[in-house]
Amino acid sequence: MASSMNGGGGGNGGGVLKKMGLLRVQYYCVMGAIAAAVVLVTLRYMPAPATAPAGAGGNVRAPATAAPADAPRGGEERGKNAWSAGAGEEGRRKKKAAPGVVVFNFGDSNSDTGGVAAVMGIHIAPPEGRAYFHHPTGRLSDGRVILDFICESLNTHHLSPYMKPLGSDYSNGVNFAIAGSTATPGDTPFSLDVQLDQFLFFKERCLESIDRGDDAPVDKKGFQSALYTMDIGQNDVTGILYLPYDKILAKLPPMVAEIKKAIETLHKNGARKFWIHGTGALGCLPQKLAMPRDDDSGLDERGCISKFNNAAKKFNALLSETCDDLRLQMTDSTIVFVDMFAIKYDLVANHTKYGIEKPLMTCCGHGGPPYNYDPKRSCMTSDQDLCELGAKFISWDGVHFTDAANSMVAAKVLSGEFAIPRIKLTSLVTPAKPKDSRL
Ligand SMILES: *[C@@H]1O[C@H](CO)[C@@H](O)[C@H](O)[C@H]1NC(C)=O
Repeated sequence: MASSMNGGGGGNGGGVLKKMGLLRVQYYCVMGAIAAAVVLVTLRYMPAPATAPAGAGGNVRAPATAAPADAPRGGEERGKNAWSAGAGEEGRRKKKAAPGVVVFNFGDSNSDTGGVAAVMGIHIAPPEGRAYFHHPTGRLSDGRVILDFICESLNTHHLSPYMKPLGSDYSNGVNFAIAGSTATPGDTPFSLDVQLDQFLFFKERCLESIDRGDDAPVDKKGFQSALYTMDIGQNDVTGILYLPYDKILAKLPPMVAEIKKAIETLHKNGARKFWIHGTGALGCLPQKLAMPRDDDSGLDERGCISKFNNAAKKFNALLSETCDDLRLQMTDSTIVFVDMFAIKYDLVANHTKYGIEKPLMTCCGHGGPPYNYDPKRSCMTSDQDLCELGAKFISWDGVHFTDAANSMVAAKVLSGEFAIPRIKLTSLVTPAKPKDSRL
């Protein structure tokens, strides 16, 4: 793979690469086919820099450092009250965090805004970022992820990853999402429970700082009125898709239970507004479709793998039911479930309506039609088959969506049309309801 990605590893030679190969195989067995880019890149770099957390032990806690904002749209959204860990001068300029929108996000690559790149020290090279940021930002896309569009709709800047050490601005919240992460504890270094612990760490440090009379990016009211968003489970479900269908079904409830537990933990810590995404149409991902199969009998009328899509739908049904239960329990809260499957499958099924010609083919991959995906050669190799800039593709690299597709998905997410209850995300944070912060 990626000669263009060797920037971060440095000097470890072929032995390590061979070991990495073995590790890679083991991980494929354990985790199934996670986002190709993430797996390849992550494993490759796991043991390299001394500072990179080793994957095996799980429970890696990283220090609360910050991250460079990704030069969102001309950078005009920058520089509110920049707060960077350890950087006293900038951070102490303002006594209190500005009132406004605060979002805390938990998840995987679907909402990672540069976390995995920062924490693993991955050098992500162009063409990542080419359609929007015009340079790689650590997002596994040619542009923005859905969370970025959510932030834009709330008139706030893109969320900084929790572990990005330069230029982060946490005044509007924190993104704890790390590509490749699972809801299931221990399966990945930054599984949902760890992301939760990081949130609690962040919250405690903020409140402690304010108690001392110092500055903090988010204050008590900010935590109470914040929006808590989650998009996780794709890697859990992906990891078991090789099993027979009945075995898959048996493994879904514990995954959903982890998400439930996370919501309960956040609620106990004062969170009152939850925006929970289900998982997407996994059977329509080029990475899945490119796996060898005997014949096409397992494909539906759109050319997607029925079994995988049914598993995703079942996962969502369970998660939606869980949100129903939580709504009854937490009557002081708003808990919204968003049917990402319906949104993402619609994009495939009605692709012509969205100006998409080849809904099952990657923009950035190898091998050309029908899927332009080669598991052995990621998008990030130098000789990829790359679609024309401006061409509308759903899939960027076989797993992750393009900026264009994420924009379409985000519009549906924000519309409330696919939300239970049917409310618009912006209605949770409009200034029309400032009293929300007293919840
Ligand atoms: C395709 O679009 C039509 C019209 O908007 C809609 O009714 C239908 O549900 C969509 N198909 C899928 C599979 O989402």
